[in-house]
Amino acid sequence: MTEPSVLHDTKAAYDSVATRYAELFSNILETLPMERAMLAAFAELVQAHGAGPVADLGCGPGHVTAHLHALGLTAFGIDLSSEMVALARQAHPDLRFDEGSMTALDLADGGLGGILAFYSFIHTPPHLLPVVFAEFHRVLAPGGHLMLGFFAGDDPLPQEFDHKVTLAYRWSPDSLVELLRQAGFVEVARLLREPHENERQFQQGQLLVRKPPSLS
Ligand SMILES: C[S@@+](CC[C@H](N)C(=O)[O-])C[C@H]1O[C@@H](n2cnc3c(N)ncnc32)[C@H](O)[C@@H]1O
Repeated sequence: MTEPSVLHDTKAAYDSVATRYAELFSNILETLPMERAMLAAFAELVQAHGAGPVADLGCGPGHVTAHLHALGLTAFGIDLSSEMVALARQAHPDLRFDEGSMTALDLADGGLGGILAFYSFIHTPPHLLPVVFAEFHRVLAPGGHLMLGFFAGDDPLPQEFDHKVTLAYRWSPDSLVELLRQAGFVEVARLLREPHENERQFQQGQLLVRKPPSLS
């Protein structure tokens, strides 16, 4: 499968469920204290290192972008799905949301203080993930932080699963950290928690990594 067909399929899948997705998940952070704690740590670290703008990549209907904004960050969202971007703009008219793909970001080199990819890179086929992480590294300023939310597993190889919207992959934290290390990042922290009753029976992972500051 070529990259454009993967992106096309993912966009079509999310366009078709965008309204329902927003209804189901726009308040989900209220039920996720550990994710909120990691997001708060991410926001504090970004602020402590210059507080550059933060991109929420694969932002969906924009609720997590709005949460980052409420934490004091200059946050904006990018999503592949035009329907998601339209819903995000409608729900949060004071924030910026653009259409785009994390595989080829229309962003300048080194301009961001932080990146969040919250359950969005999970749809990227494993062979394309090094491309995505290289893009993240390119657009982050030295010293910038990247936070990833994902479905976790023990297998060192990524495991495809039948995500409700479209094909997705589970990753072991160690395998992700190794890919991120190869892209130039260093690990800061990781969180693994057990699934809630109403979630898929996979562990949920949060990973915080950093692009090393430039030597001066
Ligand atoms: C599971 S939803 C997560 C949305 C939001 N981050 C949240 O936590 O609710 C995945 C989102 O990632 C977006 N997405 C998937 N692949 C993408 C890509 N290559 N570039 C940008 N967005 C992408 C989808 O359109 C969808 O809105």
